[in-house]
Amino acid sequence: MKPYNVYQYLEGSMSERDIREKDSKFWGIGKWNNFILPLLPEDCSELTLVDVGCNAGLHCALAEKKGFKKVIGVDSDAEAIKKGTEFKEKNGYKYELVLENIEKYLDDAPVVDYTILINAHYYFTISAWLDYVDKLKSKSRYVLIVTTKQKSKTHLASADIHYLDEYFKDWEKLDGIEVMSEEGDPSPRKLWTRLYKSPILDRVQFDGLANFNDQKEFYKELDKGVAPMKTVYGKYIKWYRRNQWTPNEIEDFILGKVKLYDNIKRKGLKKPMILNRKNKIVDGSHRYIIAQHLGETSGIFRKVR
Ligand SMILES: C[S@@+](CC[C@H](N)C(=O)[O-])C[C@H]1O[C@@H](n2cnc3c(N)ncnc32)[C@H](O)[C@@H]1O
Repeated sequence: MKPYNVYQYLEGSMSERDIREKDSKFWGIGKWNNFILPLLPEDCSELTLVDVGCNAGLHCALAEKKGFKKVIGVDSDAEAIKKGTEFKEKNGYKYELVLENIEKYLDDAPVVDYTILINAHYYFTISAWLDYVDKLKSKSRYVLIVTTKQKSKTHLASADIHYLDEYFKDWEKLDGIEVMSEEGDPSPRKLWTRLYKSPILDRVQFDGLANFNDQKEFYKELDKGVAPMKTVYGKYIKWYRRNQWTPNEIEDFILGKVKLYDNIKRKGLKKPMILNRKNKIVDGSHRYIIAQHLGETSGIFRKVR
């Protein structure tokens, strides 16, 4: 097994193994072109992607080049993330690299369109993996997984493609790529890709969804530096809730919205907004207005029909 700190070749001098893998369709850019790219949509300009077990972030760079609006890579190997961060900064990429164990990262992670796990899931313990897949259903619209032939260790998630379909049996199985010919390849191996869709998440255009006029100016006023309780919305809530909430409760509510705005600006939406059968937002009206204020024209929703 190749050590994680040299797993991905990014630039500079090459080991003999890097030289062999450079022209292989099963490693590095070749793996992206043959096992990932064909299953991504043409236009990714509105879409977000998390690369789990991103190593030094090679696929993050390729996802950004492909046009994804926001790309985040997460890996628990400090040396790989350090090497990747140096490369990204030197080359002016925008993607974010996070040094974290994915099991810990997920609760704090944004809801995204794509999660990719490229030769990564079978390093999770089976228990952490199953918990992760359960949570992922409300965190990612699609999951793209590349797996290989790997001797199973019983306490880890299985690399076996049949088990993969079993782990994602509640999801919609959309597409896949099967093992390709190894003939003439300088560094062949067996790889499979699967693409699954979350049964509960959809991206929905904002057009005409809802109109929350009372909140619209709030975020503009905050941007201008108006004190939260002096904003039109702050004053409105103070009046509207005057007989139900104490002054402290009113202030906590408004300051909670300021905190939400800060968090969304830094990290995106942590939970999907919820739409009912009449296309009415029943949870997430503040997040919806914030997303619009930040220039988004669509968002990820859980539809309850
Ligand atoms: C075989 S490498 C694959 C790297 C990359 N996805 C690729 O295809 O080139 C597996 C990566 O998963 C990372 N990893 C394993 N378990 C992890 C976990 N629980 N959380 C975050 N990263 C993890 C390792 O540090 C390593 O960089």
